[in-house]
Amino acid sequence: MRKTLTILGIESSCDDTAAAIVRDGEGGRQILASIVEGQTSLHAAFGGVVPEIAARAHAERVDGCVAQAMAAAGVGFGDLDGIAVTAGPGLIGGVLAGVMCGKGLSAATGLPLIGMNHLAGHALTPRLTDGLEFPYLMLLVSGGHCQYLRVDGPDSFTRLGASIDDAPGEAFDKVAKVLGLPQPGGPMVEAEAALGNPKRFALPRPLLDRPGCDMSFSGLKTALLRARDGVIVEKGGMLRADRADLCAGFQAAVVDVVAEKTRRALAMAPVKAFAVAGGVAANQAIRAALEKVCSENSVQFLAPPLALCTDNAAMIAWAGIERFRLGHSDDLTLSARPRWPLDQTSPALLGFGKKGAKA
Ligand code: KG4
Ligand code: ZN
Repeated sequence: MRKTLTILGIESSCDDTAAAIVRDGEGGRQILASIVEGQTSLHAAFGGVVPEIAARAHAERVDGCVAQAMAAAGVGFGDLDGIAVTAGPGLIGGVLAGVMCGKGLSAATGLPLIGMNHLAGHALTPRLTDGLEFPYLMLLVSGGHCQYLRVDGPDSFTRLGASIDDAPGEAFDKVAKVLGLPQPGGPMVEAEAALGNPKRFALPRPLLDRPGCDMSFSGLKTALLRARDGVIVEKGGMLRADRADLCAGFQAAVVDVVAEKTRRALAMAPVKAFAVAGGVAANQAIRAALEKVCSENSVQFLAPPLALCTDNAAMIAWAGIERFRLGHSDDLTLSARPRWPLDQTSPALLGFGKKGAKA
């Protein structure tokens, strides 16, 4: 019989400070509490996440988040079996704040410390939410991540493709910025796109002419900027309808690229289930396109609830449970890693997103 495990998770790799308690046992897989404190307002004036501000906020808030999560779950340290903490990849100051908190709690309580890869947290979430069996294909799409992963086990990941430059959320955010829309840009661009004509501007579908499922969004963003400038030169300004058409054209290009690359990823890894995670998974047009590709290929489509798609600590606690069950844990020499590819065998991808190092 599987031993019931109750794990505290801590996450601080980007701009969300989070703590959660997850239990796995006879009663199934349960999130007893999940606390996320975002930092959007702290970074709003700077047009992106400022690493030093993020690190300071994490250091100030992380222990409070842990206390809140434990109180909400109604557990004490004596009820826990371990402490899982994101040890990378991410903005190093923030990751350090979480790792130091995890180490301090482990040293004080004697509980095992489990250093987790943030991306493994995202990639294993469909097992927490839907009990998904291995193997499956995962698309991580957010402001900082963009990769296809074949997931064969709690520590067995194969990266099939990834963005060679911007992550899609980052591109949505930059497009919003050049069109005068507020941040975070994704939902704003999606709302404008619903009012526009996606065919008016002929925007590129980058890398569709190359085999495989790597993606690129930086050229698309530049093409959109040129189209915007063309409108301004022609009309002496941009009307609301122009902006809506630009948003619609941009979103349609992203949808086409993601749909085609997903078709190819499914051909490379013929699995029965496909799951998506990350903030961009909130986009209805992208989600609908992914669902369609999956149904065409008779593959089950899964999208965890948005609160578990975006950064949170329940995914870290769950991934910690999976790693702990394999017999792995760390000691106080655990280091924080800014870069930490999940798949150690695929060649490293270069590039830094606005939210930190890509992995
Ligand atoms: O996963 P997330 O909360 O944080 C990280 O990036 O790690 O994702 C946030 C990203 C932002 O870039 C945001 O603009 C994008 O997800 N996003 C969207 C939508 N909602 C959020 N992008 C496109 N359409 C949306 N509806
Ligand atoms: Zn993330």
